[in-house]
Amino acid sequence: MPQLTQIKISAFRNLRSVELQPSNALNLIVGENGSGKTSLLESIGVLAHGRSFRTHKFRRLINHAATGFTLFGTIRVGIDPLEKRLGISRNTRGQLNIRVDGSPVYSAAELATEFPLLVMNANSFQLLEGSSKYRRQFFDWLVFHVKHEFKTCWKSYVRCVKHRNSLLRSGKMSSTELMPWNRELCQLAVEITSMRQAVFTLFQEEFEQVFSDYSFDAGVTSTPALSFESGWKGEQTYEQQLEEHLERDKKLGYTSIGSHKADLKIQCEKVPAVELLSRGQQKSVIVSLFMAEARVFSRLTGRKPVFLLDDLPSELDTNNLSVVGQHLSQLESQVFITAIDPDVITRCWPESTLADLKMFHVEHGDIQVAT
Ligand SMILES: Nc1ncnc2c1ncn2[C@@H]1O[C@H](COP(=O)(O)OP(=O)(O)OP(=O)(O)O)[C@@H](O)[C@H]1O
Ligand SMILES: [Mg+2]
Repeated sequence: MPQLTQIKISAFRNLRSVELQPSNALNLIVGENGSGKTSLLESIGVLAHGRSFRTHKFRRLINHAATGFTLFGTIRVGIDPLEKRLGISRNTRGQLNIRVDGSPVYSAAELATEFPLLVMNANSFQLLEGSSKYRRQFFDWLVFHVKHEFKTCWKSYVRCVKHRNSLLRSGKMSSTELMPWNRELCQLAVEITSMRQAVFTLFQEEFEQVFSDYSFDAGVTSTPALSFESGWKGEQTYEQQLEEHLERDKKLGYTSIGSHKADLKIQCEKVPAVELLSRGQQKSVIVSLFMAEARVFSRLTGRKPVFLLDDLPSELDTNNLSVVGQHLSQLESQVFITAIDPDVITRCWPESTLADLKMFHVEHGDIQVAT
């Protein structure tokens, strides 16, 4: 648990009208390029979290020949009530309707807590290639789920930074007038950092364990080093540094240091991992980051996240794909994997877990259960 037990899709992307009852373990979604595999994963993400991992624009999700899409589903969350019925629809006139157990809700954000979802796709390479924003968001997913005070603390912190920034931009504030804002910001930043730091220690430990199971022909002989950066450097306290950066921040018009600038550095031999690793090695690092996240989550909450893994086999050789298979099977999560060739996955997964496999063939927006 949690699990998606049923989904009904209508006019979502190229999926016209489909219904499926997934396995509570491994689900393989197979088909040719452009058949609708990623769209199926995307529909699960939209149903469970009210947003797409491909676009912020709901209208892109509506089938070109339709006037709106509808998604219905049932999730098992493991807390009362055991099952929740979800529904989400959006039409071309912009009307969005989200229902949980038949009652309208204004945001699906609350579901994120009850239905933890980890999505890995081509965009996940941003964890190595992209700015600190991607790594921060990725890591904070875990902190949010395992530290209950994090959400409130982070919200207050963001509000405080926004307020301080508008004061900085007004240009009229003296350093004494900014003092109360600095003080509040510091208090929150210290709390956020201590929560992140505690989770990071566990995360790093799991990452090292998971990554050590991969093997490569050459190159990486040691595990990439992870380090956590709080968002400000040096010996001085954050409060002292805010004071020191005041003139610079005034010129910039924003707060240039703090928890909103934190990072999770991923390095190999003291250089950014992306500059040294092959594509397959990079993918192994990324998969390990996701596995580490799921393992810490499971260790601390006793629950399992649901995985949406788009095009998992690409870039990974058979040995390393088998490592992924072993780790995912150990986790006992519900998993949805898209692939062009199903045999690549089934060859690499432990025999014992294939009993619970369900395979879905996607063709021109239609889905058949393979027997
Ligand atoms: N709003 C829409 N209405 C209809 N079709 C759409 C819409 N948005 C995207 N499509 C099309 O849906 C099809 C399925 O896309 P999807 O990304 O799900 O394919 P896929 O099976 O994941 O392919 P690949 O193996 O190339 O990743 C594509 O042909 C795409 O152009
Ligand atoms: Mg795809």
